[in-house]
Formats: sequence, structure tokens, C-alpha cells
Amino acid sequence: MNYYQQNRQTFLEGLQTFLRIPSISTLSEHKPDIRRAAEFVRNELSAAGLQSELIEGNGNPLVYGEWLGAPGKPTLLLYGHYDVQPPDPLDEWKSPPFEPSVRGNDIFARGSSDDKGQTYILMKAVEGLLKSKGRLPVNVKFLIEGEEETGGEHIEEYVKSRPPRLKCDAAVICDTEMFAPELPTICVGLRGIVYGELHVEGANHDLHSGVYGGAAPNPLQAIAEIVTALKDRDGHIRIPGFYDRVTPPSSKEREAWARLPFDEIDYTTKEMGARQLVGEPEVPLFERLWARPTFEVHGIRGGFVGEGAKTVIPARAVAKISTRLVADQRPDEAIAQLKEAVRKAAPKGVTAEFKLIHSAGPSLVNPDNPFIQAAAQAMTEAFGKETVYIRSGGSIPIVGVFDEFLGIPSVMLGFGLPDDNLHAPNEKFHLPNFYRGIEAVAHYLESLGR
Ligand code: BES
Ligand code: MN
Ligand code: MN
Repeated sequence: MNYYQQNRQTFLEGLQTFLRIPSISTLSEHKPDIRRAAEFVRNELSAAGLQSELIEGNGNPLVYGEWLGAPGKPTLLLYGHYDVQPPDPLDEWKSPPFEPSVRGNDIFARGSSDDKGQTYILMKAVEGLLKSKGRLPVNVKFLIEGEEETGGEHIEEYVKSRPPRLKCDAAVICDTEMFAPELPTICVGLRGIVYGELHVEGANHDLHSGVYGGAAPNPLQAIAEIVTALKDRDGHIRIPGFYDRVTPPSSKEREAWARLPFDEIDYTTKEMGARQLVGEPEVPLFERLWARPTFEVHGIRGGFVGEGAKTVIPARAVAKISTRLVADQRPDEAIAQLKEAVRKAAPKGVTAEFKLIHSAGPSLVNPDNPFIQAAAQAMTEAFGKETVYIRSGGSIPIVGVFDEFLGIPSVMLGFGLPDDNLHAPNEKFHLPNFYRGIEAVAHYLESLGR
């Protein structure tokens, strides 16, 4: 038995400790938990034999850890995030979100897959090499953040300042998914995002809907009108200029996507639990998910939502909205286009304003890059199957910044599964992926050292 096989139980216990910390970055009352999670990561990196510290700035602490004892060998920046999404709706969890529960081959907890379990894979892969061999085959620099789920503003600021200590050859990120169980997968493209609130105001106070209905502007109706003006019933975004920079995938990429093992009925009814897929009818599914922008409403606040009936025309309403961006769309341009479209779509009698919360650019990496090629080979060896290249519709804001400001490619090795329930109740991580992921990453680092 090697170090990794011997230590599975210890790895699992460490992960459980990590998962018990409710490090929810979007809720300010969890600031102490954010710090505890950062300290947990730093302590583990130190115990593994790395020089590590918290980098404190305006936001949540960044955890930095390095081992640079392999002169002449490549230097990798290992990225992950210790923050998690809120767990609600709580009553839909079969076990409490911050009391990790192992059932069958899965561990259920918020952050188990996104991204504590996957961040821990990187940490344990390095620890195992250091403990069993006393050294690493390459140089590593960990950079683990605590704000990814809220836009990653402060890591972005830090990386954009190009600190000399971040000098490296490539980033390695475990924060994406395998395309299917047992299928080694590298993600080579992510969408960007523009997230914000649509604030709509009508009269300056709530009005009786009988007395004033027929004359009063209704901000909730206005939100519905604006939203439907911005995306039509066929899923086309109606924001002028929005598609101008959208670059279609190459025919090579399209053909590779068409060969992925995929059952659309299972995807629709089992994975999504939906009746039917929607979206631009003339665009194939993976292209809609990975290479086309989106426009979505996440929540609408306003008016009366309590028990029973209340006849009111609300004075104001707010909608949370986002659009996902694909290469070569630019966040600043998209924000300006969206603001202008909102202004034009606002019906008479209301004011409508889009207020930005966060934004990030899309990213594409060239799969011919030697670091990606070596990763594909290592994954193929570890899983005994040919590695597939996919893109993902999700966003990891720092990937575009690594590319633009550090000039490095990101190697995205995904160990999540499509049914891991990311951001949803009953998030889980498949333990065989956890253990195999650790060995696969170690194998990758060794191959880069040769
Ligand atoms: N790890 C996800 C992104 C992801 C999920 C990539 C699945 C590939 C496959 C990440 O933690 C995430 O959820 N990002 C947010 C970003 C945002 C809040 C800036 C997202 O995509 O909504
Ligand atoms: Mn994540
Ligand atoms: Mn996430």
C-alpha cells in the first residue's frame, strides 16, 4: 500500500473537519467561519511541509503556501476556494449541510464538491508526495481564496498587481466537473458573468390596487416586461450588440462535443428533473451551455408574498439578474449594453436601474498547451480511459485574470460529478473521485518533474 492508500481514512477525517466550517462568503455573519476555514487550510499546508501564511487585505484572507525546492523544474500555482454557497433551502437537506454525512460512496455537505473536497485533493496530493518522498517533483505555490462564490474581487486585485511571488508556469485548478462518472475530464473554457440587481421604482408609496389600479405604474409588472424584453421566448438575448463578439467553437471542438457520451433524456429528466430543455432552438445543446451567453433572473423581491391576499400595487421591486459571457465578450462592454437595454425596455411610469454586484470575463485555454497535454496523459493513466476536453457554463473569475495578468494557462482537472448538486440542497462529493483525484494529481506532478 502506498501513502495515499494507507491514509484514506485520515484524508476523509480531515475533509470532514474542513466541511464542518460554515464558511459562507456571501453572509457577513459568517466572517469568523471564513477565518477559521482559511486557518484550517494554512495549518494543513504547514503540517504538510510548506511555508504558508494568510495574506490579509480588505477582503477574506487568501491562503498562500509554497515549496520551492526543485530548481530547474516547473512551478505550478495551485488554486482552489475555501468559501461556500449558502445552504438554503435548509429543509430540503437529508442531513444538515455542515454535518458531513457519508452515505454509500458519497459524502454529503455544503462545499463537499464545490470546492472544499476538490481543494483538499490538491492539498493531499502535495502532502503525500512530501511525506512519502521528502520532496516534490516540481515547485508549487498554493493560492486558496475565500471569495470565489461572491465574485473573487480581492484575489483579482492581488493577482492583477503581479506580485513576484506568484511567478509560475501554469495554474492547476480542481473546481470543475467530470463529464460523466469514471471519465477523466479537462475543462478548457468557462463563461464569464455579469451579476447585479434591477431596481425598479413606481409611485413613492404602496397604493390600493382597486383605488389606483388602471392609473398607477406597477414595478413588478415592469420587471416582467423588462426581463421578457431582454430575452425572447426562444432564448435569444435581445440586448443590442450582445452577440457581436461571440466566437463560435471551431469545427474540431464541435465534433469532439458531438462524440461525448450523452443521453439527453436522462440529462433532462434525471439530472435536471425537468420536463423539457429550452433555449435557442437552432443551437446544439453543448454550444448553448458552453459557448453562448445567457440571461437569467434569480429572484424577484417586492409586493406582497405573505399568506392570503393583499390588494396592493407596490412602490418598488428588485430583481437579481445575471448574464453569462463567452469569449470574446468583455464585461465592461456587456454591462454598458445591458444598462442601455434596461433603460430602453422600462415601461412608462417607472425608473429602472441596473446595479452591478460583480463581473468576470470568460476564459478559454488552448488544449495544445504542454501542461494540459501532460495533465490529459496523467489523467488517462490514472483513470484508465482517454481524457475528454469539455468547456463549462460556470464561471471561475480568476482564470481569465491568470491568463491576462500572469500569462499562464490554467489546467482545470475536474473531479465533481454532474449530479453533485452544486449550490443546491444535498451537495455531495463522490469519495472514489476524491481518493482517485488525489492520486491523479500526484501522478500529474510526478510526470511534470520528469
Ligand atoms: N466551481 C464553480 C464553477 C463551476 C461549476 C465550473 C461547475 C465548472 C463546473 C464556482 O464555484 C462557481 O460556482 N462560480 C460562480 C461564480 C460567480 C459567483 C462569480 C458561478 O459560476 O456562478
Ligand atoms: Mn467552485
Ligand atoms: Mn460555486
